[in-house]
This record gives sequence, C-alpha cells and structure tokens, in this order.
Amino acid sequence: MVSALKTLIVCALLSALAAAPAAAREMSAADQVKTMGRGVNVLGYDPLWKDPAQARFQLRHFKTIKDGGFDTVRVNLHAFEHMDADNRLDPAWLKTLDAVVQAALAQKLTVILDEHDFGPCGEDPAACKPRLTAFWRQIGERYRAAPDRVVFELLNEPNKGLDDAVWNGWVAELLPVVRATNPTRNVIVGPAFWNNIAHLDALQLPAQDRHLIATVHYYLPMEFTHQGASWNPSTPKTGVTWGTEAERQRMKTDFDGVQAWAKAHDRPILLGEFGAYDKGDMASRAAYTAAAARQAEARGWAWAYWQFDSDFIAYDIKKDAWVEPIHKALVPR
Ligand code: BGC
Repeated sequence: MVSALKTLIVCALLSALAAAPAAAREMSAADQVKTMGRGVNVLGYDPLWKDPAQARFQLRHFKTIKDGGFDTVRVNLHAFEHMDADNRLDPAWLKTLDAVVQAALAQKLTVILDEHDFGPCGEDPAACKPRLTAFWRQIGERYRAAPDRVVFELLNEPNKGLDDAVWNGWVAELLPVVRATNPTRNVIVGPAFWNNIAHLDALQLPAQDRHLIATVHYYLPMEFTHQGASWNPSTPKTGVTWGTEAERQRMKTDFDGVQAWAKAHDRPILLGEFGAYDKGDMASRAAYTAAAARQAEARGWAWAYWQFDSDFIAYDIKKDAWVEPIHKALVPR
C-alpha cells in the first residue's frame, strides 16, 4: 500500500516535471528585462534596407556588439517605406529583416523589433494607423514561432497628433493585433510626447496583459544632449557641458520618478534611448552616458544606447573600432 502510494507520488512528480519545459518557454516581462541588460540601437538609418549591397552595418557587427559587452540590439525599422499600396511589406525587405534577426540571435542577443515611423505617425495619425496595424499583423505572423529573445516595440516615440489620449486608444487596439499571433511575447510600449518620462503617468496599459515592458527615452537636458543638432532647432547653442552635482541630481530625481511609476504599476522598464550628440565635448558626453547607464542599472532597468552608427556613434564603422570614451562609459572595463 505504502509503495503503491510512493509510486503514485513519483509518477505525479515526473509528469509535473515533464510539463515544466513548456511553461518555462514563456518569459515574464521582468525576466526579459533582466536578460536584455545592456543594449544598443542599430540599423535605423542604414542603406542596407534599400540595398543590402550598400550596407554600412555588416552582420558580423552583431558579434562585435556581443563581444563589446552588450546583450541586446534595438533594431529601428522604418517599415512604411517598404510597403505597397495595400500595406504589404516588401518580400525583399522581409528577407533582409530575417537575416538581421537570425544573425543577432546567433550571437545570443535579444532583438527588439522597434517600429520607428514616429515621424509620419505623429504628422498624420489617420494615414499611419492602417499601416502600423498592417505592420504588426504581418510581423506578428512572421515571427510567431521566433524565440522569446525577439521582442516587439509597438511604435518609437509617439508624438504630436499621437497625444496621450489618442495613443492610449491605439495601444488598446494594436495589442490585440499582436496578441492574435503572439499571446505571450513581451511587447514594449512607451508614453506619448516622444516617450517622455513626464507622460508616463498618462500611459494606460491593459491591466490584464502582463507581458508588457514600459519604455522611456531620456535626453534631458536637451540643451546639452541635442546641442547643435539640425533636427532640433531649439538647441542651437554649442559648448554646453554636463556633470555638475546639480545636473547629476536632476538625472537621479528624474529616474526615481520613473521607478516610482514602475513600482506602482508593476511594470519593468527599458530605457530605450539615451545619449548626447556628437557636437558636445567628449568628456561631458562620456560622463552623461556613464551616469545614465549606471543609474538605469542601479534601478534594475534594461537600457539601449542611441546609437551604434550614424550619429551619437558608439562604433566607428570606417575605422572598424569602438569610440573608446563612449564604449567605456557604457561598458566599464
Ligand atoms: C530618432 C533619431 C534622433 C534621436 C535623437 C531617435 O528616436 O530616430 O533620428 O537622432 O532620436 O534625437
């Protein structure tokens, strides 16, 4: 009798163990953020998407990134330029995307697919909405069986016409499109006003969806991080430095505000962009970059530096070498 009972218990334990791997495949949002760790934005403005033969970024750079101490790439996708009149994504573009995703996964990087058409979406939300919806329907379908190290980000920096209220409505409509094919994949969503920390309080995430990661971008003070940037005419003055005690304290206070929101809403955080433009002096840029990365890490957030190539660069593709002060600031050695 006792041994029959023992056999029963052993059988029950064994079948519970057999069921475990299936359950383990589902990664919690908190674990995803832990796995993401340190990241970098890639490929947003690379000729690769129009003509792979013209690529600046080579697939071997994913190994450079991994070896450089990073765990994640946030792939910035301007997909609207690659859609036909029926909002179907160009098969050649999708093939390039597949190659990018595979090469990044092969290096054991987490790959964020970030829809980055924030310009057209902010300017003309009505024209953007069917395209963004069609994008997520197709990408959701295509990557439904991808490993959970592929993460989706609904839209970079909703802005202008996509104000808090409009964006909250879109989040509620876009998530079911993704969930139809990817019920438990972690999805990144940030607040309106260019993923501004001051708009986190207005962001409404569906309470029952626990596979969401909240994202913010941090470029404050803009006078420092965007000095002399042609696309930001409100910060023309150059020679602005950073690093006083008051400036460091402001960053901490800002990050504490985000952390309070994260705790209150039980959502993990990705600092999806931060950095300082090339026209600032390098010592200040490195100090700012290091401070933001360490402050994010101290709060348990994942982060992704803006960006690998193009501007704010962390890696000099021509020289095939890291920009040392920025790299050291990001990954201390
Ligand atoms: C934009 C870039 C810009 C950066 C900093 C990104 O989201 O895609 O064009 O350089 O933000 O302003």
